[in-house]
Amino acid sequence: MATSRTALIIGASRGLGLGLVQRLHEDGWNITATVRNPQQPGALADVPGVRVEQLEMNDTAQLDGLKQRLQGQVFDLVFVNAGVMGPLPQDLETVQPQAIGDLFMTNAVAPIRVARRLAGQVREGSGVLAFMSSILGSVTIPDGGEICLYKASKAALNSMINSFVVELQRPDLCVLAMHPGWVKTDMGGENAEIDVLTSTRGMLEQIKAQSGHGGLRFINYKGEPLTW
Ligand SMILES: NC(=O)c1ccc[n+]([C@@H]2O[C@H](COP(=O)([O-])OP(=O)(O)OC[C@H]3O[C@@H](n4cnc5c(N)ncnc54)[C@H](OP(=O)(O)O)[C@@H]3O)[C@@H](O)[C@H]2O)c1
Repeated sequence: MATSRTALIIGASRGLGLGLVQRLHEDGWNITATVRNPQQPGALADVPGVRVEQLEMNDTAQLDGLKQRLQGQVFDLVFVNAGVMGPLPQDLETVQPQAIGDLFMTNAVAPIRVARRLAGQVREGSGVLAFMSSILGSVTIPDGGEICLYKASKAALNSMINSFVVELQRPDLCVLAMHPGWVKTDMGGENAEIDVLTSTRGMLEQIKAQSGHGGLRFINYKGEPLTW
């Protein structure tokens, strides 16, 4: 059944962010979505009624500008999805310090800087603030050696989310660190286990199920709890 809930998706030009916008649209939500280059919105332009805003997450002026433009709006969902794989190969002997800095800035620090500015606009009681984490962010998962820097950046994101939730002092707020599955996107590659439709359908289902339950949880697109 259609609803008129409101969502803000950060990083919606392609992949999972775009898929989330498509699922939310099908479910009747009012959507604001950010892209780095609004002149080239790609397939996002095919989703009717989406308000497209510009955001390069690592740019403080753009973060402040977005906050200003969205002032007064209340969101049922804010989903900070954007992220990068970082330099390849992730060879610790040859990787450049700047590339490591960019990876950790984008994946671990910038999502919190987005959330700090927008958490106050997540609906009291039933709102959901979600971050796109990864099961690789769990320090207990032994896989991922070839992408150890990416894995560490998602572990850092999980740690930053934990610190942010303490700083926030809003026990009513549902905060999710979400693993989307291994998904066929530019990042996940064509050998990934599931498609964007399956992942984003699952994540939307979980967001709706978790709404109203305050606190921080690390879960996957099927709603299974994951170990930090
Ligand atoms: N695919 C998987 O299997 C998988 C598994 C676990 C977690 N994840 C996570 O899911 C999220 C989405 O991944 P994906 O698979 O959809 O990857 P993707 O297809 O590579 O899309 C990445 C998205 O992030 C945006 N982005 C990157 N850096 C940004 C920045 N500095 N500021 C603003 N936007 C930025 C990109 O925008 P542009 O188009 O402008 O580059 C793009 O919209 C990421 O956080 C990723 O780590 C993915």
